[in-house]
Amino acid sequence: MSSNLHQAQSHDILRSWQSQRFDINHHKDFVLPMFIGNDDDAVEPIDSMPGVFRYGANRALEYLEPLVYSFGLRSVLLFPVATKADKMKLSAETKNNADDSDEDDDAASNSSDSPNSERSYASSSSSGGTREVMPERLLNDGEVNDEVSKPAVGSQNPFLNQNEEEHHLLACEQGGGIEGTPNRPSPVPVPPPRANEHNARAGGNVSRKEDVRLIKGMALKDKYNPVLRLIPKLRVKFPKLLIICDVCLCAFTSTGHCCLFEDHVKATNASGQALKHGSLSYFPISNNTSCHYLAMLSVEYAVRGCDVVAPSDMMDGRILTIRQKLNENGFNRVAILSYSAKFASAFYGPFRQATNNAPEFGDRRAYQLPPGSRALAIKAVKRDIEQGADFVMVKPAGPYLDIVRDISERHPEIPIAVYQVSGEYSMLKVAAGAGVLDLNLALREMLTAFRRSGATIIISYFTPELLKGEFSVASD
Ligand code: PBG
Ligand code: ZN
Repeated sequence: MSSNLHQAQSHDILRSWQSQRFDINHHKDFVLPMFIGNDDDAVEPIDSMPGVFRYGANRALEYLEPLVYSFGLRSVLLFPVATKADKMKLSAETKNNADDSDEDDDAASNSSDSPNSERSYASSSSSGGTREVMPERLLNDGEVNDEVSKPAVGSQNPFLNQNEEEHHLLACEQGGGIEGTPNRPSPVPVPPPRANEHNARAGGNVSRKEDVRLIKGMALKDKYNPVLRLIPKLRVKFPKLLIICDVCLCAFTSTGHCCLFEDHVKATNASGQALKHGSLSYFPISNNTSCHYLAMLSVEYAVRGCDVVAPSDMMDGRILTIRQKLNENGFNRVAILSYSAKFASAFYGPFRQATNNAPEFGDRRAYQLPPGSRALAIKAVKRDIEQGADFVMVKPAGPYLDIVRDISERHPEIPIAVYQVSGEYSMLKVAAGAGVLDLNLALREMLTAFRRSGATIIISYFTPELLKGEFSVASD
């Protein structure tokens, strides 16, 4: 089942991606990522990405018309953007008529995650109490106590600090920018996350039920997920366009994270604000439930006519769950492009502004890959191919081309996409705007490097300019 071929060659563009080729400007290989806002008639600039806009569905159609008909755009990757106001409205509404049994109507109940290891400490905190019970895992590491002991840190230069956790703890103590708890067992005593009154009043509990309601009430509904509304219109207007949908929950969760969590209390700093940085060690990911809703969302996109779903969350098992659910619903023709080697990266900064989805607490290091880990990237790609991914992605692009090379050598059976992400785009655009480099030459060099490393599919915010020939990439 997971090794079907048909869906991987079901569209002209997919067949093109299956064919090896070495020129750097083949128009079929470029994918345009687009942010789709919920006001169908709005166009909003994104400050951190000069030249990129958030389009409502109607405006997206207008914007795409010349690109498709005059400049040969063949493929888009769509991201829904939800507003905080809508989320809060929905959250309040659904809370009022919440019925406790509504979470588990469609097999999500069978997918609760490892209750023994995760629930045990998570649920103890939902009473709004002021103390978090320590996860057993950390207690077993020995030396954990409630006191924060101040480690000696050798240098003010973070690059020179051998122990990153020590640096975090110190910064936390000093009220500095980096706060959080370590990801790995640490010799340094670690403070448990604390709930306090302020936190409880501010809605400091993370509730899985609440997020499930948001997913069901927003992500899966045309009224609040603008990509659901856009797909059928695109289908009619641009019948040959390859429509790829990013599949993730982060646009809709209360936490801004890509997954659902088991119930827990958010870690806060002394003044009760949720910690923005630091790892997610204390926050138990509800993996199976997350996969379940990713699959539900994939089916909704497939029903409306998308060609490819691209799960971007990095949850374990999502490819298999999505493939099964698609096939059960008769969507064998829909392919899966997996964000397989997705690294936890600073280069996503502008994207998070574009989509309003910066995490409310913690960061994404517990599910995205550590930038230094070649091994996990290789493992993640293997995992996803085994589960039925038709195309795999390496992301960001520029800093990770060695990984593209590794994968293209290990897996000649699968085409590789690179995603030149928001920060890579803005870095070039802003530098060129400031006159410090020649955008044409710099971009050309990047594209050549993507190809050289073994990538076939190039996802880039420069796609419109490239197709319009504003960069003379065709010229030699
Ligand atoms: C979230 C998602 C991100 C991007 C694509 N999907 C951001 C993140 O993981 O924090 C990044 C894209 C970009 O920076 O252009 N599922
Ligand atoms: Zn996400």
